[in-house]
Amino acid sequence: MTTELEHVDPRNPDARVIARAAACLRRGGLVAFPTETVYGLGVDALDRDAVRRLFEAKGRPSNDPLIVHVSSIEEAGALVIAVPAIARALAARFWPGPLTLVLPRSSLVPDEVTAGLETVAIRVPSHPVARAIIAAAGRPIAAPSANLFSRPSPTQGAHVLDDLGGRIEMIVDGGPTEVGVESTVLDLSRNNPIVLRPGAVTLEMLRPYVPGVRYRTGPTDDEVAQTSPGMLSKHYAPRAPLTLFSGDPLAVREAMVTMAHALAAAGQRVGVMATAADARALGEIGVVLALVSGDAGAEETMVAVASRLYAALRELDTARVDVILACEPAGADGLGGAIRDRLRRAAAHVVRVG
Ligand code: TXA
Ligand code: MG
Repeated sequence: MTTELEHVDPRNPDARVIARAAACLRRGGLVAFPTETVYGLGVDALDRDAVRRLFEAKGRPSNDPLIVHVSSIEEAGALVIAVPAIARALAARFWPGPLTLVLPRSSLVPDEVTAGLETVAIRVPSHPVARAIIAAAGRPIAAPSANLFSRPSPTQGAHVLDDLGGRIEMIVDGGPTEVGVESTVLDLSRNNPIVLRPGAVTLEMLRPYVPGVRYRTGPTDDEVAQTSPGMLSKHYAPRAPLTLFSGDPLAVREAMVTMAHALAAAGQRVGVMATAADARALGEIGVVLALVSGDAGAEETMVAVASRLYAALRELDTARVDVILACEPAGADGLGGAIRDRLRRAAAHVVRVG
């Protein structure tokens, strides 16, 4: 299959390209497009065969459910049994935007989309290209991130082409995405709502609407990582094994720089997810640097790190490094929490410092 690649102005996409993408979706085609978080691989959510092809194209296990993208809360209504008041309030505040709501599903939603679950995940993206394509298609669009299964999510059209070129009908390239990490997934289908996946919509932002909201507890990857790193579910992962340094921010950077020196001296090709300060400390020893931000700490910096995270991982893969070293952000919540979650999933080893 040849994959049609179209570049569009992200703010004002060419109506002819949007119409072609929508027609392709209505025929059961697979179309990748930018959202404000990461690129999605879209398919008509009500077309079972197309949804099955999507799982094949990504190499994704069929037990991992998809997010359905719609234009409005009204359109979400047909996909669920009822829209509770809390969902309405959250939608009014955060949609369009990077928040996914999990609700009991209606019979309209195929099993293929929900992996047989009695719930469905729904969001209204804010990216003008995503919005235009969904509106023109005139139906709900199931869209996982447009990467091969277990690879870092794509934040640029070129990432999608690398992973899925020749496997899907069309890529609409609207430049780099803004947020850089996937949407916050909030499960409203239970009595006590929980965040299944942290994202740009943080616990603090949700709390006024969902007072008791918390992160998922239980044997999460987080806890598994502490006791048994090998069992960490491999997700968002670069090809080279990633060692993640966790703990006191200053001690962590020092430990990372020390290990980078040691591995480089031992002849390894070392890749580092680096801040500008790390870059200065590592300048002379010939490691491969992928810059994630200017300097550490502030929430603005977390915004910069999130938007660069997956591109940096892919750059290090392209540079064919043997190992990747990265530091965890200090804060547990805010966007730092989302970055930490993704780095933990990408990591082969977590080194605790201090
Ligand atoms: O930002 C995003 O959410 C991007 C863009 C393209 O919208 N999409 C995305 O999709 O990240 P995907 O398929 O890579 O991740 C979907 C996540 C998975 O963790 C999945 O387990 C969860 O949402 N999910 C989907 N349906 C669910 C359900 N019914 N119950 C619980 N979790 C669900
Ligand atoms: Mg994904």
